[in-house]
Amino acid sequence: MVPTTDFSIRSILGGMDKNFTYVVSCSRTGIPILVDAAVELRKASPFIRREPQALLITHTHGDHIAYLDQYMEAFPQMTVFGHPESTTLSSLASFHSVTQDKGINVGQLEFNAIHTPGHYYDSICYQLDSVLFTGDTLFVGRTGRVISANSSIADLYDSVYNKLLTLRDLTRIYPGHDYGEKPTITLEENVKISPLLQANNLDDFKCRMDDYENNRKPGS
Ligand SMILES: [Fe+2]
Repeated sequence: MVPTTDFSIRSILGGMDKNFTYVVSCSRTGIPILVDAAVELRKASPFIRREPQALLITHTHGDHIAYLDQYMEAFPQMTVFGHPESTTLSSLASFHSVTQDKGINVGQLEFNAIHTPGHYYDSICYQLDSVLFTGDTLFVGRTGRVISANSSIADLYDSVYNKLLTLRDLTRIYPGHDYGEKPTITLEENVKISPLLQANNLDDFKCRMDDYENNRKPGS
């Protein structure tokens, strides 16, 4: 296993709906790694000092891969990582599928992939030390929604409660959208502020999601 060294994270806000693309840089090697192609390259490029080795896709809803072509054209050596069943990605020559709990080594960093179906069937969270890139599985203040084809509320409950909330309380999430009161949050604090993260079981979670959907304001 490659030892984890220090790293920096630049959050770039934009895209179709307050999306984030993240530029992670390995401090020791300077190699950048991208998370999602959700923001126009021209907005991210000032923070990408050399060719990224990896683009980690959290899931293939259109807004998260909206600018994939731009990034692939600019960085032809970059590997695109995603779910093995992501039909949108699997035809790409640069695609590499990631399996549950399999490490992705880039520079001197190691990302751990956690499959988290629910919001979408091919959702993956990427863990790097005490940081977790959660895509649309978990936001600041709530979980993702389950309103698209290939969503599953039972899967989402399992992913959030059995795979994410069991990580260290001080793990800090970096979500796919800027939907919360601040851009990032620790798991510990997120559970405190979110009724959707306080369910006792799946049925309770379903009731809480119904409440959320019935009361949600557009754009939140
Ligand atoms: Fe999504």
